[in-house]
Amino acid sequence: MRILVVGATGTLGTAVVNEMKNDAEIISASKSNSDIKVDITSTDSILQMFKEVGEIDAIVSATGAAHFGGVEELTPELNSIAVNSKLLGQINLVLLGLPYIRDNGSITLTTGILMDDPVVGGASSAMANGGVRAFVKSASIEMPRGIRINSVSPNMLEESKEKYGSFFVGFEPVPAKRAALAFRKSILGAQTGQSYYVY
Ligand SMILES: NC(=O)c1ccc[n+]([C@@H]2O[C@H](COP(=O)([O-])OP(=O)(O)OC[C@H]3O[C@@H](n4cnc5c(N)ncnc54)[C@H](OP(=O)(O)O)[C@@H]3O)[C@@H](O)[C@H]2O)c1
Repeated sequence: MRILVVGATGTLGTAVVNEMKNDAEIISASKSNSDIKVDITSTDSILQMFKEVGEIDAIVSATGAAHFGGVEELTPELNSIAVNSKLLGQINLVLLGLPYIRDNGSITLTTGILMDDPVVGGASSAMANGGVRAFVKSASIEMPRGIRINSVSPNMLEESKEKYGSFFVGFEPVPAKRAALAFRKSILGAQTGQSYYVY
């Protein structure tokens, strides 16, 4: 089994790689710190990555940027960061990656808790998360060749507490290893169209 992990060097991506590395060949991709470089905000770059990587059994996206800040200060330009990266970037991995996925393969995208449990500054990210979740649910009924698609919505990760803890007051962080188990379920299980909540 070959699994392409986009965002493999990040906090979440590293946990997914560690969770799956004994079961599959992992192909790590990310913006600058992996052998396979990809910028998910560029369709040319995504296409180039798939050409380089070839056939795979699973795509995991553990990436997606968004501007964090109050709605009154949120400009259309700042909001477009989440649109172009977290929303369209992840969805374009699906649209452009489908021909490279083998029969009965899988796709797993990443959302996040703040779409359901809002925090100050999180509206732009929540917008993208909700779009990704809705796309996954809807697209799942049309996936060809037995291909499944799910998303994972993690709570704040324990490993990210220092970085994000002040925004997520009163949230109980989860270990990245627990979030990675939801990716395992999506990759090796039988379900499709699901959003796995790791809250
Ligand atoms: N951390 C949390 O607590 C948490 C909780 C819920 C949801 N999430 C979601 O999980 C995802 C990953 O979060 P994280 O905390 O693991 O992030 P992170 O540690 O900052 O890692 C980001 C990863 O994405 C890659 N990347 C950044 N921009 C990219 C681009 N334009 N194209 C391709 N790859 C790109 C980075 O690559 P390089 O290393 O090469 O730069 C890195 O591998 C995000 O969508 C985040 O919203 C995170």
